[in-house]
Amino acid sequence: MNILVSGGAGFIGSHACFELLDAGHDIIVFDNYYNSSPEALANVEELTGKSFKIYECDMLDRASIEKIFEENTIDAVIHFAGYKAVGESVAKPLMYYNNNITGTVILLETMAKYNVKKIVFSSSATVYGVPETVPINESFPLGVTNPYGRTKLMIEDILRDVCVSDKDWSVVILRYFNPVGAHASSKLRENPKGIPNNLMPRLIQAAKGEVEYLTVFGDDYPTRDGTGVRDYIHVVDLAKGHVKAIDYIADNKGAIEINLGTGNGCSVLELIKTFEKVNGVTVPHKIVERRPGDVAECYADPSLAKELLGWSAVLGLEEMCRDSWRAVMYEA
Ligand code: WQD
Repeated sequence: MNILVSGGAGFIGSHACFELLDAGHDIIVFDNYYNSSPEALANVEELTGKSFKIYECDMLDRASIEKIFEENTIDAVIHFAGYKAVGESVAKPLMYYNNNITGTVILLETMAKYNVKKIVFSSSATVYGVPETVPINESFPLGVTNPYGRTKLMIEDILRDVCVSDKDWSVVILRYFNPVGAHASSKLRENPKGIPNNLMPRLIQAAKGEVEYLTVFGDDYPTRDGTGVRDYIHVVDLAKGHVKAIDYIADNKGAIEINLGTGNGCSVLELIKTFEKVNGVTVPHKIVERRPGDVAECYADPSLAKELLGWSAVLGLEEMCRDSWRAVMYEA
């Protein structure tokens, strides 16, 4: 299939581009490079030996988006493009609503105009809010606690409404847990612009000595060691899940929500310990107060992905830690 990948230069997008090409699909990418760089796409081309069209444009620029559909025959879209920093979304909600919501509506309107009605959407476990219990399955109640999460849930609702209005649409909503790691080549990796928000890039800053220590946000949660528990999933496993979603979307109409997680919970201190062990480094860290909005535990029941997509995560925490560190050392 010919797949349009929005935000294809990003951390997850670039890994998905690699896996799509590796699986024999053709791709077209657009990205505005707000939180990514063209280098990631050049690395995808180098790693796969395949070239593909790249459009530098913003999804708010309707004319540019239409141009992509005018110039190419597109079978399906994988939609990664969007702002994704929780803290930034609290400070700048309108920027997030305009970019993520308006941008997605423009993309969907353009898809409909060109009769492209298959989309895989990059959603997030954040739509579950504070889960009553864990593991979390797709039937759990939805509730969000920040503008970033609200944009994800609103886009999910928009996609479900589109499917109600037009039975020809095929929508797979993938709810990611916590993506970490990097491609084995180290040429594709998490490369956030500005100050990173997520645990792994901040842990790596401490391991590199770029900061004095990693702040561990609270050790008084009701978890096995008091620190926050999450479902860390290797970005390569996550990317492969998108290829499986494209296979599924070819034969299925309507909207479906699917968790992409390992089903294993890991605490902050456990991740630090694993990272130190596999990489032979020390991660200076200090327990500080909880981060507002954090939940104690969040990890997936991944059984629906196995049942519907024939997908499950295979890479473990040690590979995630090793690949994350090697990618940074490679870049140095
Ligand atoms: C993980 C754990 C923190 C930083 C968010 C979004 C989610 C997705 C992934 C986009 C928590 C602790 C963190 C630090 C710490 N976003 N932590 N010190 O909050 O689970 O999920 O990022 O794709 O939608 O909600 O991820 O990496 O920020 O935090 O102790 O410096 O690490 O308290 O327990 P989170 P995270």
